Amino acid sequence: MKILVVGGIGYIGSHMLKRFKETNYDIEILDNLSSGQKENTLNYKLHVCDLSDKETVYKILSEQNYDLVMHFAASINVEESYNNPKKYQQNNVINTINLLDCMKNLKINKFIFSSSAAVYGEPEHLPVTELHPFNPVNPYGDTKAEVEKILKSYEESCGLKYVSLRYFNACGAHLDGTIGEMHDPETHLIPLVLQVASGRKKHISVFGDDYPTPDGTCVRDYVHVMDIVEAHILAMENLTNTHKSQVFNIGNKKGFSVNQIIQMAKEITKVDIPIKIQGRRKGDPAELIADNKKIMNLLNWNPKYSDLQTIVKSAWNWEKTLKIK
Ligand code: UFG
Repeated sequence: MKILVVGGIGYIGSHMLKRFKETNYDIEILDNLSSGQKENTLNYKLHVCDLSDKETVYKILSEQNYDLVMHFAASINVEESYNNPKKYQQNNVINTINLLDCMKNLKINKFIFSSSAAVYGEPEHLPVTELHPFNPVNPYGDTKAEVEKILKSYEESCGLKYVSLRYFNACGAHLDGTIGEMHDPETHLIPLVLQVASGRKKHISVFGDDYPTPDGTCVRDYVHVMDIVEAHILAMENLTNTHKSQVFNIGNKKGFSVNQIIQMAKEITKVDIPIKIQGRRKGDPAELIADNKKIMNLLNWNPKYSDLQTIVKSAWNWEKTLKIK
């Protein structure tokens, strides 16, 4: 099977490529190099192209016989999505439509989409099941919900079969220490806390301690990136075997507060981590926890690395390599 990994050199895409190295799948990458490093390609063929350039996307897809496309490329910064909604519409929605259109014309009908828990917004019940209605509370979440609706209509209009994987809080780094999370600017809690521990940052801002949660700070469901990529392998195999579209939450069914994350980082790094309580960040739901029964039962997915210790330890090993660079 020949697979195109779109956004393959970014944070999650690069972990996916490493996992693919253990398989016999025929892999190529399409990436605009906006984030991630070229050395992340692991010698797979890289097509440098932005999805907004539909003509080139079409050309690349028409010259190869891809059976399936995995789509990781997206803009993911919630704050930026408020300041620059056009960029989010373009990168996350229009570019995905470009890709789907090219696939439709070339009759490539298998698609794995990186969706997000952000489609649920402030959940009405916890843990959140896949049946929970869409209620995004920020423009980033809007774009992911929009694409999920578009996928449905492509299925109806041209027989696209897809799996939408709704990531909760992707985190951690490869256990071999060679790749990990690196965004510019970095906005995610775990890498920022560890930057404080390594001395690259002076303190960690805690965005709100007055939420209706046990310690007042936001609660999230942190899931290790290596467990996320394993879910992609299982989702892809299921799609190929059943030809049935599916939507799955990828989470650990366990919530940790911002304070708990900082505490775990202190224990692992053995460094005191100064905190500053700030006001709430716009577009942050108080609590997000995945109901993961569906993916566990249907795909036999079993997170192996998503305990908080392994997450923070792996991210710390990665942060130490970044500090040296
Ligand atoms: N936080 C802080 N200080 C920081 C950074 C984050 O207190 O410096 C808090 C946030 O307010 C939030 C929690 O830590 O309560 C986690 O924040 P992250 O930015 O790490 O992650 P988010 O929950 O905001 O977002 C992540 C992904 C999104 C995705 C969302 C879905 O980055 O792409 O999960 O739940 F939409």
